[in-house]
Amino acid sequence: MSFTPRVFSGIKPSGDLHLGNYLGAIRRFVPLQDTHETIYCVVDMHAITVWQDPDDLKRWTYEIAAAYIAAGLDPKKSIIFNQSQVVEHAELSWIFNCVARMGWMARMTQFKDKAGENSENVSLGLFAYPSLMAADILLYKATAVPVGEDQRQHLELTRDIAKKFNHDFAKQIAAAGFEDEFFPITETLATGPAMRVKSLKDGAKKMSKSEASDLATIYMMDDADLIAKKIKRATSDAEALPTEAAGLAGRNEAENLVGVYAALANQSVDQVLAEYGGKGWGVFKPALADLAVSVLAPIADEMKRLVSDRGEMDRILGDGAERARAIAQPIMADVRKLVGFVR
Ligand code: TRP
Repeated sequence: MSFTPRVFSGIKPSGDLHLGNYLGAIRRFVPLQDTHETIYCVVDMHAITVWQDPDDLKRWTYEIAAAYIAAGLDPKKSIIFNQSQVVEHAELSWIFNCVARMGWMARMTQFKDKAGENSENVSLGLFAYPSLMAADILLYKATAVPVGEDQRQHLELTRDIAKKFNHDFAKQIAAAGFEDEFFPITETLATGPAMRVKSLKDGAKKMSKSEASDLATIYMMDDADLIAKKIKRATSDAEALPTEAAGLAGRNEAENLVGVYAALANQSVDQVLAEYGGKGWGVFKPALADLAVSVLAPIADEMKRLVSDRGEMDRILGDGAERARAIAQPIMADVRKLVGFVR
């Protein structure tokens, strides 16, 4: 039996997209279109696990969908939609809430980080977040998920939920004639070395949407002038660039800027240093600014065009949701039968 492996991934609409989201996630989604069946979601239900202003939520939902397309995802090849349009995500996540154990959820480091000292006062949804994520993936029986390092633990939990469901309902699964395990044991897809983009003002910190300085983060909707300005004002150090990657050790800012160059140029760090080793920042920064503008400005322009065309965006998301439902509904119908829900 031949089968096309199925990829699912998602991004939360909870802030303006930045270079870290592009290099770490969105850009990696594109080549998978040619080797996998690909489903890319805007996970709006995950976003509201912490308070979101409804107008912002909408704007960011369109923005992510636009970024997917502007970065090269083809809405005819990939299924692109927002999570809340396919209500089966909520339904399956409830069942998974009853499969997963409190202890499993309590061990999630992302929850502990986000809840901090304040764990009595965060939403119940934030605690159940990984169960909804497992539902996203298993609702489509997705076999592979491209995500960053920070989501590894959530994927392990997804596998634990799949295994426990397969085990708890083993009798029903066998009686219904499913040959194999009902839910697949989804793998984490490593798509090359992870690019972790750092703040332009502090090379020890992740690039993020919550930085004190406006110049620390390159947003995907920044225009050419702003991109160039941010790169030229990025914190660097006093030394020239080394001639090989090992020379970047201990030089956080230099390592980040060279890494960004390599990622944008699709080169290795050593290739970049073969060209720029021994040169100073006065040479490297303008070169990086030109490269970043040439890659990112056309994406920003296309994003702006798309988000201003609500009709077109709604059509794309509606069509994606319809195709997503066509996969999800038969699987959900099987799940209801296995669990014993009467219809
Ligand atoms: N939790 C993921 C993140 O914060 C987003 C996400 C939600 C996701 N559902 C998913 C990623 C399913 C991959 C698959 O990055």
